[in-house]
Amino acid sequence: MQAPRCDQTAAWTALTAQFTQSGRSFDLRPAFANDAQRAEAFSLNAPEVFADLSKNHWDTETRGLLLALARECRIEARRDAMLAGEPINHTEGRAVLHTALRAPRGAAPFSDDVHDVLDRLLAYVEQVRDTATSGIRHVVNIGIGGSDLGPQMVVPALDAFAHRGLKLHFVSNVDGHDIVPVLRGLDPRETLVIVASKTFTTQETMANAEVARAWFLAGYGEGGEAAIAKHFAATTTNVAAAAKFGITTTFGFWDWVGGRYSLWSAIGLPIALAIGAEHFRALLAGAHAMDRHFAEAPLEQNLPIQLGLLDVWYRNFHGYTSRSVAPYHQGLRRLPAYLQQLEMESNGKCVDLDGQPLPFGTSPVVWGEAGTNGQHAYFQMLHQGTDVIPVEFIAVKTPCYDAARADGGSGLPDGVRAGLADQHHKLLANCLAQSQALMLGKATDEAIGETAPTASKSLDALTVARHRTFPGNRPSTTLVIDRLTPAAVGALIALYEHRVFTSGALWRINSFDQWGVELGKALCSQLLPRFATGDTAGLDGSTAALLKRLLG
Ligand code: F6P
Repeated sequence: MQAPRCDQTAAWTALTAQFTQSGRSFDLRPAFANDAQRAEAFSLNAPEVFADLSKNHWDTETRGLLLALARECRIEARRDAMLAGEPINHTEGRAVLHTALRAPRGAAPFSDDVHDVLDRLLAYVEQVRDTATSGIRHVVNIGIGGSDLGPQMVVPALDAFAHRGLKLHFVSNVDGHDIVPVLRGLDPRETLVIVASKTFTTQETMANAEVARAWFLAGYGEGGEAAIAKHFAATTTNVAAAAKFGITTTFGFWDWVGGRYSLWSAIGLPIALAIGAEHFRALLAGAHAMDRHFAEAPLEQNLPIQLGLLDVWYRNFHGYTSRSVAPYHQGLRRLPAYLQQLEMESNGKCVDLDGQPLPFGTSPVVWGEAGTNGQHAYFQMLHQGTDVIPVEFIAVKTPCYDAARADGGSGLPDGVRAGLADQHHKLLANCLAQSQALMLGKATDEAIGETAPTASKSLDALTVARHRTFPGNRPSTTLVIDRLTPAAVGALIALYEHRVFTSGALWRINSFDQWGVELGKALCSQLLPRFATGDTAGLDGSTAALLKRLLG
């Protein structure tokens, strides 16, 4: 039996009524004042991640209706179909099995294939990481989108666990301003270039791979062609194309791994090179633990499902069009960019599984920066802007600057340690203060009692106070992680994957294709030859004029 779309359910009708009656005017401040247990009642524990969902615009009635909505949309059946390897990516006729990449041997479909490649990849990793023997000091990962963003996010996140003698570099953009500064300082004899591409046809990656090969051959000198075998590796589902390019060290994966879900596959090679085989396996194990939670926890305790339900509540009832993510850990600074692809490429769709236009909004805009930096840039708008933007804070309890040191310390002189501890408390205090400020706000009456040191003398007190008023009641979620270990990072990413799955399943869209990127690619191929000829015939006026200007 076909699962209904969320807006065709009884729970949706009930939620609509509830929103009109009380949901729209829900206020967090009385909700906390009237319920001493609210924080506890709206907190969930998942592997490696604790979530405080209490500063969100919902009460037990809303949550109950959202859970009923999930059940009516048969979320569990769709989840189980994904985990069993059914071809739920129906527009490409593919299974969606990134969860199989992190399951123990024998526990998921394609297990032998997965573990054979993983074992081979990690054996290679350990050889390269023996830098005294391998001579490799620099790794350049060339890839874009899912072949870049995952590794580029995880490598700094796990810097505390990284090999200190191997420096990881990432090149993605077709713009030469990306690759030139990377290659400029490197010695080909000390460099491993990874060409990472699921298809091995992506324009940007192929162009950069060609430049890297030319750079390598020019710089290596005699014996360069033969040395490509040692200094280039490919991670791809298209092993034949990699061989044609001249790369013999190849690690494959499969069409049932979506690009944005691929860091667990051979695409994770840069991560494994940075943190080593043992920690890479811990990353996979952390993700697997979250997979089990997603698969087994009842909906009432299921964190990814509840986050996905909140996303639907905010997008389709409150009409919030964006969500900001604020990781209070500098290592997670690339998480917002990673989540942009994960969520917006997955759920940025306007038709349902049957191709019918959707009468409601889908993917929000996902954006953000590491805290506290964002506070000094766009938080003004979060606090006093006209749009309400739910914020997701991520706090990490215990810092770790260098896991190789018994105390996880900085490697800096002992006297520096007290200062670092103090910095960490400042970081966490900022994180809590921001979610407090968003919720509590500040009434004009309160602001009027304050002295505004910088106000012009010609302004009356009320006007100044209005500028210093905060509406408050702005929602946020706080995720807490004990320590940013490989297992914690794995669990966190898997949490986001399943949360995106949940909203996509309720919206009844295909979260696993990405046809929306194709039109631009096709038009680019048509335009490219015109850059050689200058021909503008048949182009629209704007494109023709811009082409002339760029070539003039
Ligand atoms: O253009 C979008 C996209 O297809 C992404 O989905 C993918 O992650 C990226 O390009 C890179 O593709 P590939 O790994 O095949 O080079």
